[in-house]
Amino acid sequence: MCGIVGYIGQRPAADILLHGLESLSYRGYDSAGIAVREENGTVAVRKSSGKLERLKQLLKVQPVSGCEGIGHTRWATHGEPSDVNAHPHTDESGRIAVVHNGIIENYDLLRSRLEAAGAVLKGQTDTEVIACLLGRMYGGSMLDTLLELQKLLQGRYAIAVMCGQEPGRLFCVKSGSPLVAAHREGESFLASDIPALLFHSRDVLILKDRETAVLTNEGVQVYDENGRLCPRETFHVAWSQESAEKNGYAHYMLKEIHEQPIALEKTFERGNDLLRPEWLPVDRETARNLKKVTIAACGTAYHAGVLAKYALETLARLPVEVETAGEYRYRQPVAQKNELFIAVSQSGETADTLAALEEARKNGVRSIAICNTVGSSIARAAGEANTLYTCAGPEIAVASTKAYLTQAELFVMISAALGMLRGTLPVQRALEIRNALNELPKKARQTLLLQEQIRQLCERFSHCEHVFFTGRGMDYALAMEGALKLKEVSYLFSEAYAAGELKHGPIALLQSGRLVVAGITQPHVMEKMLANLQEIRARKAQVLAICPEKMADRVKPHTDEMLVIPDTDDCLAPLLAAVPMQLFAYFMARIRGCDVDQPRNLAKSVTVE
Ligand code: G6P
Repeated sequence: MCGIVGYIGQRPAADILLHGLESLSYRGYDSAGIAVREENGTVAVRKSSGKLERLKQLLKVQPVSGCEGIGHTRWATHGEPSDVNAHPHTDESGRIAVVHNGIIENYDLLRSRLEAAGAVLKGQTDTEVIACLLGRMYGGSMLDTLLELQKLLQGRYAIAVMCGQEPGRLFCVKSGSPLVAAHREGESFLASDIPALLFHSRDVLILKDRETAVLTNEGVQVYDENGRLCPRETFHVAWSQESAEKNGYAHYMLKEIHEQPIALEKTFERGNDLLRPEWLPVDRETARNLKKVTIAACGTAYHAGVLAKYALETLARLPVEVETAGEYRYRQPVAQKNELFIAVSQSGETADTLAALEEARKNGVRSIAICNTVGSSIARAAGEANTLYTCAGPEIAVASTKAYLTQAELFVMISAALGMLRGTLPVQRALEIRNALNELPKKARQTLLLQEQIRQLCERFSHCEHVFFTGRGMDYALAMEGALKLKEVSYLFSEAYAAGELKHGPIALLQSGRLVVAGITQPHVMEKMLANLQEIRARKAQVLAICPEKMADRVKPHTDEMLVIPDTDDCLAPLLAAVPMQLFAYFMARIRGCDVDQPRNLAKSVTVE
């Protein structure tokens, strides 16, 4: 989704802004632009639709000079991707430049009021409305104007402003969408996301909702909505800049797939001992009284939630409802006494997940978050004490891999720990799971050795235009994620069905040339799965089975191709089986010439509904 950067200091702003925009490009965008305050006080804007390369070409032909500026990558919401709709937008005088993330919900009303007052707006964006309003409201102090502007805006936004009349200062304000700032020796930086700042500083200041910040080359000052100065501490980011770079891999996605063993290790070693479950944000009494768990999330994080349903039900004997956050927030969910709500998000900024969490809290449901990003909006809304962190490190590729695996791992840990607290999990079983978790990074490394075999399989199956994924129990959750990965990055039609459902419709689509990827990691349903494979092959579709070593001999006669993963505890086997599915999606996408890291139409952090 959209990205914001800002710079003020002694160096030419354009290069620094472009570099910042590049590091945000993983979020997905369709146009980009910068505004730089030139020596003579004019605000020079350069913007274009398409990728950053086009903006760079434009800047070669029409260079800008100056040491203060703001920049933006846009993912179209109001108005198509075009040069005119790209940010920055300026006010009618051309002296105030604005970039903006989020959506202004009362934009129509504000626009018609402006037009009734004689304003002529060039494009269709809500951002231009903000710029126009600022221009008309400005009375000499941009800080005061932004404080006033906030009273007019409804929706979620992060806004950065540069004002020709106020040299040496950049302004920003936020509500709902993230903004972070940093200061270092005569320079200040602004961004919508931490990775864009890591190159400059790991000590960042995270703005809270309804705060306005003024950046100068002396530092960053933060004001509350009443204009009172709020002294703020910076926050040290544990992620290094290298962790947000490709480090020799062809794509971020491949690098992140390979980082999974270490991500699993770090998440396990965070001190969350299954046998001493005090790290859970619920105490023994609350855990024992729990009657229901509700999980809400989007995309891949939702699939981690689906997997968690099985783990929580088996290990903690708790009824679980899993829902996509966009559905949960609008269906007037019935809050129950002794219910636990869990929001899951890699970025911690997904608008629907955040809103679902807020809805649950509003209804008085005890709520916790699983998050990968410290200081993110979801972590803050749940409260640090109620947030459990995955330690995946920065995830840059749009298609989530290492975040998924660590979310699933953390869910198994939570399920076992809750099981211990509730007395539903024998100590011996908890010990087995703990040992298996300890071994999991090593097993994930072994699983990655399947890479070449998977690449060759993809060459073989590259003609398939339709791919089904299937499984039972936890493997059905796995199938859902496998299908999502494939469609996200390769644009192939792919769909997941519970194996027991295949006969109720989807089997009509099975024929020669179609591929079914089957996860078979759960011994208690293996025989049922093998029967399903026979039905699939009887319709001439091909089967690629993924199973652990201990089941390989039994599965082999029933499949066309097979990927064998190392043995592990049954509740962790689907996690290992996710790795070949990720690699399968990755190589299919490469063979088909797709943009693996930035698939069309997708965004990394979906900060609008
Ligand atoms: C987008 C991304 C997905 C991600 C989902 C939820 O759709 O493309 O990869 O799973 O958002 O993101 P979150 O940051 O909340 O986990």
